[in-house]
Amino acid sequence: MHRDNEHGADNEHGSDNEHKHRDAHGSERHGPAHQAVFALSMLFCRGGMARTIADLAGLSAGDVVVDIGCGPGAAARRARREGAARAVGIDPSPEMLRFARRLTSLRRMDGVDFLEGAAESLPLDSASATVVWAVQSVHHWVDPGRGLEETRRVLEPRGRLLLMERAVVPGARGLAAHGLTDHRADELVRLIAHTGFADAGRQIVRVGRRNFVVVTASAPPS
Ligand SMILES: C[S@@+](CC[C@H](N)C(=O)[O-])C[C@H]1O[C@@H](n2cnc3c(N)ncnc32)[C@H](O)[C@@H]1O
Repeated sequence: MHRDNEHGADNEHGSDNEHKHRDAHGSERHGPAHQAVFALSMLFCRGGMARTIADLAGLSAGDVVVDIGCGPGAAARRARREGAARAVGIDPSPEMLRFARRLTSLRRMDGVDFLEGAAESLPLDSASATVVWAVQSVHHWVDPGRGLEETRRVLEPRGRLLLMERAVVPGARGLAAHGLTDHRADELVRLIAHTGFADAGRQIVRVGRRNFVVVTASAPPS
């Protein structure tokens, strides 16, 4: 798989006790300066993950990709570079969205939009996407069951779902716990199947020095 730079694939949020409070969507809220630092750190660490999820999705010119919890938007921009017709990044954080829009405009990319929202309430029409993915955001979702129902709603029949999280070991603490253990990954696969998706499964992929678990499924035929 692709290599990340020397920062590794998960150099993002600082320690647990930096978390100030949760907003209505349950996302961790920090001051704008703090969010800016997070967004900047993500810029240097996300290329490998974005390429990996785009490869796994097997994008083509007909695809409309939704990136839930897009942060500064690396994976959404990657979707366009890999040939998707359109990409939409969704994030509850206005600061992240500001970064995402600015970076996209600096790169003079069209066909990439960013909307404020959360997994549990996606600001998108039903059956409007062919691919929905989330890179290191599922562990932030307040209500994964509701997020998966929303994901299924916005995917067209046979649309693809990909959820990528760092693989973490049981008992990990702080930053090292930001991801999915084998057990949590299995629970997520079961929840996805319970939500009505087909072919739910998971695999481990290596990006740089880290292992990631990628859970995949497809929306039912109709
Ligand atoms: C670790 S960052 C990952 C950002 C981006 N996907 C990346 O890999 O660079 C997690 C992101 O999830 C967002 N988030 C938090 N709660 C969320 C929710 N309920 N629904 C969707 N995104 C959420 C955060 O604002 C943050 O931008």
